[in-house]
Amino acid sequence: MNFEIKYKDARARVGILTTDHGKIRTPALMPVVHPGRQTLPVKDYGAEIVITNAYLIYKNDELREQALKEGVHGLIDFPGPIVTDSGSFQLSTYGEVEVTNPEIIQFQEAIGTDIGTSLDIPTPPDVPRERAERDLEVTLERARESLQVREDLMMNSVVQGSTYPDLRSKCAQELAGMDFQVHPIGAVVPLMESYRYRELVEVVMASVEHLPDSRPRHLMGAGHPMVFALAVAMGCDLFDSAAYILYAQDDRLLMPNGTHKLENLVEMPCSCPVCTAYTPTDLRSMDGEERTLLLAQHNLAISFAEIRQIRQAIVEGSLWELVEQRCRAHPYLLDALRRLGTYSPLIEKYDPPYKKSAFFYSGTESLRRPEVYRHWEKVKKLPRKEAVLLLAPVTKPYSQNLTHYLGVGYRKGDCGGVIQGKVPLQLAVVDVPFGVIPLELDQVYPLAQNETPTIMDQEARHQVKMMVEEYLKGFETALVDCKLVKKYQLDLEEQVTVVDPLSLDTDDLERVRMIADYQFLPGAGVALFNGPVRVVKSRKTGKIRHLYQGEDLIATLRASDGVLVLAALGARKLHQHLPYPVNRVVVNEEAEPFAREGKSIFAKFVINCDIDIHAQEEVLIVNSEDELLAFGKSILNGREITDFQTGQAVKTRKGGL
Ligand code: GUN
Ligand code: ZN
Repeated sequence: MNFEIKYKDARARVGILTTDHGKIRTPALMPVVHPGRQTLPVKDYGAEIVITNAYLIYKNDELREQALKEGVHGLIDFPGPIVTDSGSFQLSTYGEVEVTNPEIIQFQEAIGTDIGTSLDIPTPPDVPRERAERDLEVTLERARESLQVREDLMMNSVVQGSTYPDLRSKCAQELAGMDFQVHPIGAVVPLMESYRYRELVEVVMASVEHLPDSRPRHLMGAGHPMVFALAVAMGCDLFDSAAYILYAQDDRLLMPNGTHKLENLVEMPCSCPVCTAYTPTDLRSMDGEERTLLLAQHNLAISFAEIRQIRQAIVEGSLWELVEQRCRAHPYLLDALRRLGTYSPLIEKYDPPYKKSAFFYSGTESLRRPEVYRHWEKVKKLPRKEAVLLLAPVTKPYSQNLTHYLGVGYRKGDCGGVIQGKVPLQLAVVDVPFGVIPLELDQVYPLAQNETPTIMDQEARHQVKMMVEEYLKGFETALVDCKLVKKYQLDLEEQVTVVDPLSLDTDDLERVRMIADYQFLPGAGVALFNGPVRVVKSRKTGKIRHLYQGEDLIATLRASDGVLVLAALGARKLHQHLPYPVNRVVVNEEAEPFAREGKSIFAKFVINCDIDIHAQEEVLIVNSEDELLAFGKSILNGREITDFQTGQAVKTRKGGL
């Protein structure tokens, strides 16, 4: 295996792909280099890896001779990794090719390609199902055959299946079981050319869900920067662009939010060297070839800038915000974003729950984000008290600005005017987009680290109303601030006037217990913080910092995201409480001494793992006897840890337990 994940966000990964000609960072854009006709040194514009066409080389006597003699790296004069395509695209365009699958694989191996491709059948969208199935059988047969033929060539294997999501899934599943290194998703060019981005999402999600996490995925023929962020968020790692040159030949400029025709421009659209050196009039007055080269330079520059921005967004955890911006460039991209929202339960498993960057609400689509889905799933499972008081939002973090409640509320059940003192009372704030936020959780990411417009839209109103109504079902008795009843048009019994101020203090112990229940599993709170707990607060902010049992540290509450970071005692308590294999990463005998020394855990030493672990979570490291060896922070999620054989799985905090 030659792929490693460094950072994650949504389903996206920033990774390192290793080939015989070096390592590259992903997501990556591979400019298409035309053998024998290339005029631009793409490396100078940021290309770390390129793609060229083995079939075009094979068919041309001169190119073939040269490639066999000097290798493909010499032929196209590129020292880094080179991917070659097989002629399948020509097959889809012209209906036939003059080469067999074994021949083109042997040829790719002979010319020293880094990653070769078998002769898949790119089945177009909307064909009858029978044809899609028949083509798929050939594609799979050729995939199997290519593994027999290749010696040690790294191989692409293309997911096909037309616009039938179940066929895409089936294909991905079959290929996943074979020894391929990269998985392109094929035959999506016709979808992108006709702006059918919603179906692109369906095809990609149906494929990615069944591909191994440990192999990079290449969205074949995707070269417009407009779709990069969306595709990366779905788990695509590689793109190839012939668009930079094709659009340039057609006097069109690529931008991340669309395409400009040179004939319509009075101003150049960006600040790349071409756009700063020339005016649209300058370019229009040039001869064709010179102009094409300059436009191609702009197109490459803007495409690589977008890839860099995407990698940055993944590292800081703001990719979804970028996707939301990009998908507003065209109504059909907005369709794609809306469709993507329906996959939130799947994306949520991959999305790290704690990020550096705040959650920004950019429109009703934000209501379908994985973070909102996750919060709601967790809140529903939290232990309930007898009564609840729902409060209108104030400046975040809420609890610092809510000291008492006084005024008019609406009741459910018998509140008797003032409910506090009689029964245990759950305090919660109602806000967009997370719905119900128990006050104990008001500093946990992203419940404090989010921004929403002050003017509410109808969809948010509707969604939050549904959440509140469902949440209230779990309580016999409820008092709801009249502002909320009005704002969300809640159907509740008559008013109650609270004349004695209700104190809104949250108990420190209850606060950290609920954070633990929310962060781990319900019940973890009582397990971690039982008996006398000493709470140490920050002198500056007054916030809880450390939790001790006597002199022993149980956990620290991280200031940036309000999350519990375990100490040794906390890890032991959690290990005792949570049933195997919950929250555990199980390492083999070989890794045991390293884990005990507090060294980080590499994926290849992991023999079992809780599949529901997310990246960036506090996890327990145990041996096959479930003896606690160490604890740390996961870099990958449970599925990835299980699938990967390279790279770090857990950053160990402490060993020797
Ligand atoms: N280039 C663009 N689409 C495809 C595809 O489906 N298969 C191959 N091999 N190359 C492509
Ligand atoms: Zn430019």
